[in-house]
Amino acid sequence: MKKIGIIFGGMSTENEISAQSAKSILENLDTKKYEIYPIYIDKEGKWYQYQDNSKISNITEYLKGLDVIFPVLHGLYGEDGTIQGLFELLKKPYVGCKVLASSVGMDKVYTKIIFEKIGLNQTKYEYIRKYKNQYIYVDKKFNEEIITLEEASKKITQNLKFPMFIKPSNSGSSVGINKAKNEEELKKHIQYAAQFDTKILIEEGINGREVECAVLGNEEVIASCVGEIKTPDEFYSYDAKYKNQESKTDIPAQNLPNDISDEIRKQAIKAFKSIDGKGLSRVDFFIENNTNKIYINEINTLPGFTSISMYPKLFEASGISYQELLDRLIKLAND
Ligand SMILES: Nc1ncnc2c1ncn2[C@@H]1O[C@H](COP(=O)(O)OP(=O)(O)OP(=O)(O)O)[C@@H](O)[C@H]1O
Ligand SMILES: [Mg+2]
Repeated sequence: MKKIGIIFGGMSTENEISAQSAKSILENLDTKKYEIYPIYIDKEGKWYQYQDNSKISNITEYLKGLDVIFPVLHGLYGEDGTIQGLFELLKKPYVGCKVLASSVGMDKVYTKIIFEKIGLNQTKYEYIRKYKNQYIYVDKKFNEEIITLEEASKKITQNLKFPMFIKPSNSGSSVGINKAKNEEELKKHIQYAAQFDTKILIEEGINGREVECAVLGNEEVIASCVGEIKTPDEFYSYDAKYKNQESKTDIPAQNLPNDISDEIRKQAIKAFKSIDGKGLSRVDFFIENNTNKIYINEINTLPGFTSISMYPKLFEASGISYQELLDRLIKLAND
């Protein structure tokens, strides 16, 4: 039997969400095939053997005893390549993306740069960094200029149309993200986003549908059907995601023309390949109202994995059950 380590929790804002994902995985893993070792990382970064709640003092020795590791972690220190680096050092097979894809996928600015390179359509954007009490404006050729918040906001409004979305480059679950309808809000939201990351992305807002596609594989990658997110909120904020009961998902998306969903599936695989993805990812898009134009938004290398999460649901609707999905992911880790 394969000894499989399921690592969950973690030092990110998504600790609890990760625990929910892990709960579903633990319930669905086939105990006839796997010897399961659940490992909990608390918010301070301490590791525990979950079953008897004992602290793991020698983490590397502990991990060396496992055959394969499934990091069920979202956000910083889990989805961003850091823990994947540890597995590489230990030469342990693990589920999902390697170091590079994880860190690129976690960083919204770098994801944009790669998507731009392969010609995927995305929203217009600007990139600034927080620097002491000012900001560094970074142009498309990576020339830098130190400017005030006032000057940054002027420059951005010259180049982008309102509404805009202001995002910490490294974040997740919409934490630190806001929508601005005017310059006052833009300045306020830049300052807010700067509390979560020194790198800040500002994007033009898209008025449209929000759809997602799941991908699975290493060299041979398959894409699921396309699902849609619906929220009565202004956008899919943290509260809309986890608190608003009226937020819902359509799997598959209703009344979506075949040529559009085919194109989304194609782009999802291309995006995954472009960041050097392995194993799994969920790729998120907008479809603009009126024009039906597709915009790629982001790639999540460790998407939510509860039994009602979009990633497993999309594959379930495409004929791959939750349990089968786990088997395939574990097999892909060893390929
Ligand atoms: N350019 C945009 N136009 C319209 N809506 C946007 C735009 N960018 C973000 N949004 C809205 O904000 C939400 C959160 O943004 P985004 O998906 O980029 O970050 P995130 O969800 O925090 O990242 P992650 O999925 O990694 O947790 C989106 O689901 C969408 O509702
Ligand atoms: Mg998102």
